Amino acid sequence: MGTNWEQADVLESSMQICWQFDYEIHLDKLKNLYTKSKKMMWDSDVDIDWSLEIDPSKPLVGGDQLEFEKIPLLAKLSASQKELFTAESTAHLLSQFLHGEQGALMTAAALTHAVPDYEGKLYAAAQTMDEARHVEVYDRYIKKLANVYPISPWLKETIDATLQADHWVKIAIGMNMVVEGLALAAFHNMRKDTTCDLLRQITENVLRDESRHVAFGNVYVGEAIRAMHPDEQEDIAQFAFDVIKMMSDSMGGVDGTGARTPDPGFLTVLDKVGIDLEDFIKSLIEMGAAGIDAATPPDRLHSFKDLMMPALVRVGAITDRSRELYKEAGIPVWDDLTILESMEDVETGVSDFDSIA
Ligand SMILES: [Fe+2]
Ligand SMILES: [Fe+2]
Repeated sequence: MGTNWEQADVLESSMQICWQFDYEIHLDKLKNLYTKSKKMMWDSDVDIDWSLEIDPSKPLVGGDQLEFEKIPLLAKLSASQKELFTAESTAHLLSQFLHGEQGALMTAAALTHAVPDYEGKLYAAAQTMDEARHVEVYDRYIKKLANVYPISPWLKETIDATLQADHWVKIAIGMNMVVEGLALAAFHNMRKDTTCDLLRQITENVLRDESRHVAFGNVYVGEAIRAMHPDEQEDIAQFAFDVIKMMSDSMGGVDGTGARTPDPGFLTVLDKVGIDLEDFIKSLIEMGAAGIDAATPPDRLHSFKDLMMPALVRVGAITDRSRELYKEAGIPVWDDLTILESMEDVETGVSDFDSIA
């Protein structure tokens, strides 16, 4: 098999690439994160038991799929149609994680270029390697189940805006806080709900790395924003708002209850299973009329409330001016750090995920 030299998509970046000849460590916490990354690097060939079978007769990821079970139309499907739906819709969902991980791989590499400190470069390089493994394991899992689906347009747009940002702090906000905030909540819920041992093993390994990626944002971005001129702080705050707004709009608001454009990949899933889109939408409306609640259950993490917004508040990426923008957009500025802090541990790099409700 030859190499695929064809470039799927090419972006121009205005990022500055920065050398650093001072090899002194100024931020010990960052150096610690790097040290922990090296120590905790797992090997996807050794630490994951790829021989575990996937059984699509059970809901694989839980969460969203448990919600799907409540949709009257899907309840009427035959057993084999249901299995097909589970396999394809899981592949579609995990494909978004897969592409998101590739985005993280590239943003971490971009941070390696752009961050001004030596220890920041070491850390970003280690995160780059973490993300490489994440891409690899999700690709491998999806291919055992079905095919890789295309990236959702909104996810592509969000990651592109992050990759093309002109300052490394914006990249760290767009990826380490916003996109990874979304992924972290989803992974956490998935790890809890999945009936698939293989998917659980993968997700546990990925989550262990993510506790460092989240901590990085706190340790490094906070310092950088505090040292900035107020005008520059406003520029950062504007970027954070734009990315949050983009993500919220694409999800039908922070609670996912508003209108959202159907994802083209998901339409392919429906098509493969032989479900008509109009019937599907009608069934969703019936579900609402029957009072079946599709909102986030109380013991699941809420990506905006528990992770993204508190992370932005904590590092100073929300200013008095941008608070007004959030208000106008109907996005609450949640600032309770309890869950976020329990998911990261700067000292050990390991979190006790079980302690989270
Ligand atoms: Fe990742
Ligand atoms: Fe990550």
